[in-house]
This record gives sequence, structure tokens and C-alpha cells, in this order.
Amino acid sequence: MRVECAVCPGFNAPRGSPPAPGTHWISAIMHPMLTTAVKAARRAGSVINRGARDLDLLTVTTKGPKDFVSEVDRAAEAAIVETLHTTYPNHAILAEEGTAKGANAAAEHVWIIDPLDGTTNFLHGFPQYCVSIALQHKGQITQAVVYDPVHNDLFTATRGRGAFLNDRRMRVSRRQHLKECLIGTGFPYRQGEHLDAYVRMMHAMMIEAAGIRRPGAAALDLAYVAAGYYDGFWEVGLNPWDVAAGSLLIVEAGGLVGDLGGDAEYLYGGQIIAANPRIFAQMVKLLLPYRDSLPPVNLPLIAET
Ligand code: IPD
Ligand code: CA
Ligand code: CA
Repeated sequence: MRVECAVCPGFNAPRGSPPAPGTHWISAIMHPMLTTAVKAARRAGSVINRGARDLDLLTVTTKGPKDFVSEVDRAAEAAIVETLHTTYPNHAILAEEGTAKGANAAAEHVWIIDPLDGTTNFLHGFPQYCVSIALQHKGQITQAVVYDPVHNDLFTATRGRGAFLNDRRMRVSRRQHLKECLIGTGFPYRQGEHLDAYVRMMHAMMIEAAGIRRPGAAALDLAYVAAGYYDGFWEVGLNPWDVAAGSLLIVEAGGLVGDLGGDAEYLYGGQIIAANPRIFAQMVKLLLPYRDSLPPVNLPLIAET
């Protein structure tokens, strides 16, 4: 016997002890691994919000051209890893700021973490950044959290159980034609070798789409596709920690995710298109001709860590 959540029409949960008043069914039955990931993301969010109070005091170092890391990125990663490892000491970790514990192609459980996606925004006080945590189980992303600590927006998904923004179910947009669509993207500001091909893609997209946005935090951009704010998104040169969580949010919200050819190699392949199903096909058709002009990707493949 299943009953409908009193707050989220259409969302059914097994009958059992009712959740506390005001609590949605989804909160009451969240997958235990997702609960742990949410706890980790909120802890990282507190670290980030504390750091945002006085940006001038932060120690910032440069990892590479236009690639900055602050003490907040590192402290947020430490908080996430500690939270996950307290509950799951044997799980592997692949995290942007260097925590790679046991992450290899054979690892059964790998947490893929970007502790602060949108570091450049954060360092400038531009309020568009997030925490991204995903669990890869036997090669498949099964849990996802993207947390925006500025707006206290929590995007979550468990494979097969739908995607949620806070306690509301998310669905991708329903627009059918690229010319009506708002499309998100990211500039290849670090990988200069991608620039020429990217500018040609941008030119083609500007002619076709209704509008293009580049806010600067890829994981949050992908969450926005899941929420239906954007109709689609594309970027080249992203790492697995930028896309792992967002990709599951989109699939669970009814969207599609792929590389520039529409195939499944987006997690470690450095190219992504994500959109509602109709727009996905139109974006692949538009962008695929530029793929051969892109240089080969050189990303930290999990098999090599
Ligand atoms: C960056 C952001 C940005 C994207 C870059 C990413 P970081 O992540 O997601 O939107 O364009 O490619 O590297 O370095 O701020 O975590
Ligand atoms: Ca990132
Ligand atoms: Ca980051």
C-alpha cells in the first residue's frame, strides 16, 4: 500500500510511520548514502559561507593558469571527506583538491567531489558557486548532491528515485525548439587550445538559441538544467567532479546527458551536452561538426589515479 506525499503531488511513499508534520515524504525516506552526502555538502557549505564573510583574509594559491585554490576549497574538501569516511571508511575518493584515496577503475564505490565549484566567482564575491558530491557505484553514478550555500538550495538525486530541489521534484523543461531555448555554457578560459573551436560553437549557438548564459559554476549549471531553468547546457574541458553529480540530477529529472556526439563518454571525456530530450538532439546536431577541431582531452582519468 502506497500513499501520496501531502506536499508533493504524485510522489508516493510506502505506508509506514508518517514523517514529522511539515516533512515531505522524500525527506523521510532519503537513501542513507544520500543522507550522508547531504550532511557532507551542508558541512562544506558552512565552511564556504564562513569563508565568504571576509574574502580579503583568505590565502589563495595558483594551481595553473587562471586556476586558483583557496584555503576554503581545501577546508571544504576536508570536511566532506571526513564526513563520508566516518560512515564509509572503505569507499574510495576522487576529489578535486587532491584527495584520491583508492580511486581506480576497479573500486566499487568512489565518491567524486568538487568541494567548491566556481572558485573564481567565490573569490570575487560573485554569488554563484556550489558543492558537488556524487557516488559512483560499479561505474555508475547512483547518488548526487549539488548544494548552493548562498541560496541554501539543495539539489539531490538517487538513481531510479527522481531528482529534487529542496523537497520539490524536478523536471527538465518542455521546450521543443532550440530557437525558444535558454542555453547555459562554460568558456574554455584555461584551455586556450579549445578556444577557436569553442568560439565557432558559440557563434552557431547564438544564431540558433534564444539566449546563452555563462554564470561560472558548471555543477550548478547542470543542476539548473535538471530544474528546467535552462533548456540545455554544453561545455568542453570539464573534469569528472564538475559533471558527476549534475549528470544524475538531469537523468533523474527526465533529461539526457552525453558528449558532443550524444554518446555516453561525458564523465571522463571532457565534453558534455545536457538538455531535455528534444533539445539534446538539436544541440548534438548543431555542435557535433565542431568536435573534430577540439584537441584531445587530457583529464585525470580514474584508472590512472
Ligand atoms: C570551474 C567551473 C567553471 C567551468 C570550469 C571549471 P572550479 O570549476 O565549474 O564554470 O567553466 O571549467 O573548472 O575550478 O571553479 O571548481
Ligand atoms: Ca569545478
Ligand atoms: Ca573546485
